Amino acid sequence: MPEFRIAPSILSANFAKLGEEVDNVLASGADIVHFDVMDNHYVPNLTIGPLVCEALRKHGVTAPIDVHLMVKPVDRIIPDFAKAGASYITFHPEASEHIDRTIGLIKESGCKAGLVFNPATPLEVLEYTLDKIDMVLLMSVNPGFGGQKFIPYVLDKARKVRKMIDERGLNVSLEIDGGVGPANILDVAKAGVDTFVAGSAVFGAAKDSDPNRYNSVIATMRAELAKA
Ligand code: DX5
Ligand code: ZN
Repeated sequence: MPEFRIAPSILSANFAKLGEEVDNVLASGADIVHFDVMDNHYVPNLTIGPLVCEALRKHGVTAPIDVHLMVKPVDRIIPDFAKAGASYITFHPEASEHIDRTIGLIKESGCKAGLVFNPATPLEVLEYTLDKIDMVLLMSVNPGFGGQKFIPYVLDKARKVRKMIDERGLNVSLEIDGGVGPANILDVAKAGVDTFVAGSAVFGAAKDSDPNRYNSVIATMRAELAKA
């Protein structure tokens, strides 16, 4: 069985107590913190930046932080996120004029690099970049908002990327983002995905007052993954 990782998207967390939410979701068995950065330009929404990433590190978060940049331009903000404690930095190729340079910048700043593909964005750039990156992130919704419906044709895309990674014998993670939860995580895993972003499915699953509020949804997703 491949190593599966669950990456709750804090976009759906309670921002008024973000540190506590992140502690809670990690204590409930999450592996990675998915950190959605939106700029009201590349995507029609506005969220959080390097200061919040740094605040989570200062709060004591040691798990990998997976920074998903939905910003344009990309390069200016990369060193700031590296300094703020990002582990992964992923960006959309459409948002960079010089994809190779942006990947290089991320790696030089000491972070792992990934490319993000919107549902209808073709995978061509992977031909030249797959051996230089650590992660491919497939969007299974149009970026900008949590709580949208999973777009099924992305499963075909996942199978394609899995094949490319395996044929080249590379150690690249395949992550999916959008509309994933207990009901479809197994199908997504069977398409070759190993890292699962889940925002509303995780943070919407439980009552605020329960100290172990995310245990059961994460356990349910792991039980589904165990069938893969
Ligand atoms: C969408 C973001 C996602 C989002 C996923 O642009 O990149 O990470 O939070 O949310 P759910 O899991 O609710 O679809
Ligand atoms: Zn995301």
